[in-house]
Amino acid sequence: MTTIDLTIHKDRRANAIKRAKERNIIIPTFAEMKDPSKIPAKIQKELKGIGLWDIHPRNLFRITWKNQPTASGGTFGGVNFLELPSTLTGVPARIVVLVGKWFPTGAHKVGAAFGCLVPRLVTGQFDPTTQKAVWPSTGNYCRGGAYDSALLACESIAILPEEMSQERFDWLASVAGETIKTPGSESNVKEIFDKCWELRNSGEDLMIFNQFDEFGNYLWHYEVTGHAMEEVLKQVMRPNDRYRGMASATGSAGTIASGDYMKQLFPDSKIVASEALQCPTLLENGFGAHRIEGIGDKHVPWIHNTKNTDMVVAIDDNAVVNLARLFNEESGRAFLIEKGVPEGTVNQLDLLGFSGISNVLSAIKAAKYYELGENDIMLTVLTDSMELYRSRLHEMHQEYGQYTERDAAADFARYLHGQSTDNMLELRYTDRRRVHNLKYYTWVEQQGKTYEEIQQQWYQDDYWSGIRKQADEIDELIVEFNKEVGLM
Ligand SMILES: Cc1ncc(COP(=O)(O)O)c(C=O)c1O
Repeated sequence: MTTIDLTIHKDRRANAIKRAKERNIIIPTFAEMKDPSKIPAKIQKELKGIGLWDIHPRNLFRITWKNQPTASGGTFGGVNFLELPSTLTGVPARIVVLVGKWFPTGAHKVGAAFGCLVPRLVTGQFDPTTQKAVWPSTGNYCRGGAYDSALLACESIAILPEEMSQERFDWLASVAGETIKTPGSESNVKEIFDKCWELRNSGEDLMIFNQFDEFGNYLWHYEVTGHAMEEVLKQVMRPNDRYRGMASATGSAGTIASGDYMKQLFPDSKIVASEALQCPTLLENGFGAHRIEGIGDKHVPWIHNTKNTDMVVAIDDNAVVNLARLFNEESGRAFLIEKGVPEGTVNQLDLLGFSGISNVLSAIKAAKYYELGENDIMLTVLTDSMELYRSRLHEMHQEYGQYTERDAAADFARYLHGQSTDNMLELRYTDRRRVHNLKYYTWVEQQGKTYEEIQQQWYQDDYWSGIRKQADEIDELIVEFNKEVGLM
C-alpha cells in the first residue's frame, strides 16, 4: 500500500535537529494547525510581536485557517470565512467561502508545502544542512515552499512559469534562494517537470517536493482544510439546512482533498472539480493556455482522487478577469451596491483572487445544476486574494481603459447572474475512470510511476484511506523531534 514514507534516517535527522536548535525552530503539529488553542501560551504570546508575513520561525504556527485577520500581532480566532449573499451570487443557495488571504504569504499553499516538507524533515529523509528544497509550482506553492524553507532554515529553489504575475516574482526575489523561470504560462507544467528532471540529473544534492504527486499535500488539506470546513459548517448551519457539497478548482488537486473529508461526514455530498474552459482537461481531455493562475495544468495530478469526484465544471477565464474588475474597480463596487449587495460584502470582495472567483462561479453553477434552495449550503475556498493580482488589474486598465458603470452592468448580467449550466458534466463511473486514466500518460509514461500503483489508485479500497490515517503518526514524529530540539 502506498503511504507517505516515514522511514527514519538517523544521522540526517540528527543534523536537522541540530539545525532546528541553532535556528530556534519549533514545528507545529497537524493537531495544532487544526486547533491553535492547543498551541502553548508562550508561543501565542510571542506571535503578538511578529507580523503575519515575517520570516520568523514562530510563523510556522500561523499555518492555519484560524489566524486573526490582521497583518501583524494577531493570534487565533475561528476559521476565516465569508458567506456570499444571493444578491451577489444570483442563486438562493447559501455559498460559503473559506478565506486564504490570512495565511502567511497570503495563500493557503504554505500549508500544502508544510505537508510535503515536514514529514521528510522530522524523519531525516531531507537534510537541511546539505540539501536544497526544490518547489515546482505555478506560483503560490513555490512561494509557500520558499517561505516554509526559510522558516525551517533550508535552502530553496522555486520553479514557476515565466508568465505568472509580477507580484509572485517580486516576492520570491526576497525569499527564495533561487528562482527558475520555465517557458510559458499557467498551464505549462510539463516544462516544470522537465526542469525537475534536469535538476535531478545535475548531481546537485537536492530534494524535489512535487506538489502534484506528494501525498503530504493531499493529507494537509484532508486534515486541516477538511476540519476547517466542518467547523464553518457547524457555525452557519441552521436546523433545516443541508450541506450539499464543495467546489474546488484543481491545480495540484490538494485542496479538493478536503472534499474527501467532508464526504466522509456527509456521504451524499458532492465534490465538484473545476478548471478553466480554455484548458478543459478534466471535461474533455483538452489543453490550452488560460488566465486563472494556480489551476488547470494540462494534466491530472497524481494525488487527485478522481473516483470520489462527482462533477467537473469549466469556467471561462473571461468571466474571471472581468469579475475581478467588477469586484475591485470603484464603479464596479458602486454598481454592486446599487444592485443591493450589502456594502460590507462589497468591501471584502478583494478577498477573492482569480481562482477564488472561479471557485465561486463553480459553486454557483453547481447550485443551479442541482437546483439548490435557500436551505442548501455549498462550500468553496479562496486560495489567495487580489493582493497578488493588482498588476493584472493595472494591465487590464491599460488595455481596455477605464472600467465604467456600463461595463459593470454587462459583467454582472453576463458573468455573474447569467451563469448557466453549460460546460459541466456530472461524472458517471466511466467518466471518473476516463479522468483517472489520463494520469497514465503523465505519470506512468513520463514521470516514473508504476503501472501497479495507478491500478491501485483505482481498484484498491484502502489506497486513499491509508494516507488519511497518517496525520497522527506524523504528529508523533513532530512531537518527538521538538522534544529533542529542546526549545519547548
Ligand atoms: C491561486 C491558486 N488557486 C488555486 C490553486 C489550486 O489549489 P490546489 O493546488 O490545492 O489544487 C492554486 C495552487 O497553487 C493556486 O495558487
